[in-house]
Amino acid sequence: MGDHLAARLLITSLMGMAMIGGGDAKAAGPDNFNGDARRGADLVKNYHCGGCHDIPGVAGADGNVGPPLHRIGTRTYIAGYIQNSPDNMAAWIEDPQRALPGNAMPSMGISQKDARDIAAFLATLK
Ligand code: HEC
Repeated sequence: MGDHLAARLLITSLMGMAMIGGGDAKAAGPDNFNGDARRGADLVKNYHCGGCHDIPGVAGADGNVGPPLHRIGTRTYIAGYIQNSPDNMAAWIEDPQRALPGNAMPSMGISQKDARDIAAFLATLK
């Protein structure tokens, strides 16, 4: 018996989390992608993505090792190869070396949750 109930509780609590995420996160992507864009912006600072990227709205993020992330939210391809979608962006951030082996961005050991929040933030750059 327990399985169905547990699944329902999980779905209910996930829906709750998505709603707590608030307006910004919702605006960042499709309804089924519940990353927290505001938390993602803080994570971008903490992970020092700006050491390698110029990122609008992130203080001190003026690196020039990788491409600037201006308007990355509307870009067609990630790294010129991967169709840009919230899921693909999260996968890229979580492990760019798995997403596109041999590219110049190092895998930084970022968790799936953090990667999704960062992807939600990047989706706001239009
Ligand atoms: C050590 C330098 C370095 C760090 C740190 C780094 N990146 Fe990158 N990143 C790169 C390079 C180099 C590329 C270009 C890869 C390519 O196009 O083959 C890249 C590509 C990207 C792209 C695709 C850009 C495009 O124009 O297609 C995104 C998005 C991105 N990085 C986000 C991030 C985020 C978010 C972080 C922090 C969690 C981060 N990067 C940290 C070097 C870095």
